[in-house]
Amino acid sequence: MRTVDILTEKPYQVRIGRGLLRELGGQLALVHRPCRAVVVTDSTVGPLYLEEALASLQGAGFSAESYVMPAGEEHKSAETFLDIQRFLIRTELTRSDLLVALGGGVVGDMTGFCAATYQRGIPFVQVPTTLLCAVDASVGGKTAIDLPEGKNMVGAFHQPILVLCDTETFDTLPDLRWQDGAAEMLKHGVLADGEMFALLAAGSWREKAEELVQKNVEIKRSFVVGDEKDKGKRQLLNFGHTVGHAVEWLSGFSLSHGQAVAIGMIAETRTARKMGLTKLDEEIILRGAQANGLPVSFPAAAQDVAAAILRDKKRTDGGIAVCVPLRLGETRLHMLPLEQVREYVEMGLMP
Ligand SMILES: NC(=O)c1ccc[n+]([C@@H]2O[C@H](COP(=O)([O-])OP(=O)(O)OC[C@H]3O[C@@H](n4cnc5c(N)ncnc54)[C@H](O)[C@@H]3O)[C@@H](O)[C@H]2O)c1
Ligand SMILES: [Zn+2]
Repeated sequence: MRTVDILTEKPYQVRIGRGLLRELGGQLALVHRPCRAVVVTDSTVGPLYLEEALASLQGAGFSAESYVMPAGEEHKSAETFLDIQRFLIRTELTRSDLLVALGGGVVGDMTGFCAATYQRGIPFVQVPTTLLCAVDASVGGKTAIDLPEGKNMVGAFHQPILVLCDTETFDTLPDLRWQDGAAEMLKHGVLADGEMFALLAAGSWREKAEELVQKNVEIKRSFVVGDEKDKGKRQLLNFGHTVGHAVEWLSGFSLSHGQAVAIGMIAETRTARKMGLTKLDEEIILRGAQANGLPVSFPAAAQDVAAAILRDKKRTDGGIAVCVPLRLGETRLHMLPLEQVREYVEMGLMP
């Protein structure tokens, strides 16, 4: 088992290894006294892993119940959120109990936000079952739901008390989900680790999943610790996400999150190069994305993408902080004035 300590204001550990789901109860008992635990999962992950999770919790003295939400980003909604909250009230969950997120980033973001708000905040545990969730979403404490007006529009910062990543669960992931994870890892490579970027860009790295999860959690940690509320260096993690979130939204979620991020990274780097902010050629990222089966462009009108970006909660009065990759492994923030957003998008979408 590999362990990464995340020393945020409330420190917690990420534990990574094959077969760890069987140890969920025992691992949880090390950080929380036995209580009632509600496992939130989705309709795809539930049939695969819920039984094992519940049995492990019960075996360690937790009384375990479950809530199964429909799978898919379109269900990271206010309706699901309210339904879970009402379920928690009906089951009389108290503030000394906890939630367990068993699934990908959708379940993680949803469960985290439920935990952040149920009775003004109860503890929760992340059990990521997608690579994307393991290398990114499960760490850092950002939780959110989507509204018809925009993605991740309503959320909270709420750190988990434990992240338990059983890499054996990746065995059932379809190719698309491996590709999604690759996109966020490529992002981390551009931001902080050129060597890892090269490994990913060469393809065939799946057997190194455990090591890669550890490496990526460490990279994410380096941006999150010291900036939990996303006011400084953490904003660099938005690389690829300014344009990415917008095209993900405009595609009506026919693009997955990882696919959108790949498109976003290429567009944002292209713009930065055209603006003379970097010498890094976006072709390098494009080839890395292609080697992992990721799309590299999307037919959206620049004005629609710009409008979606301008609705994004990450803008401030002064503009939008965008990430400029200087070379593989080094980046900086650039403040883009709001009136330049349209031009920024046009430059990025046009080869
Ligand atoms: N909070 C953060 O910091 C953060 C960071 C990155 C992404 N996110 C969010 O994460 C979400 C994307 O996460 P995701 O890609 O994990 O999506 P997801 O949770 O929708 O999972 C993708 C699909 O894979 C299925 N699945 C999950 N585990 C499986 C397994 N082991 N075997 C077979 N199928 C499995 C799910 O049911 C789902 O259908 C987005 O909503 C994004 O905004 C959040
Ligand atoms: Zn992302």
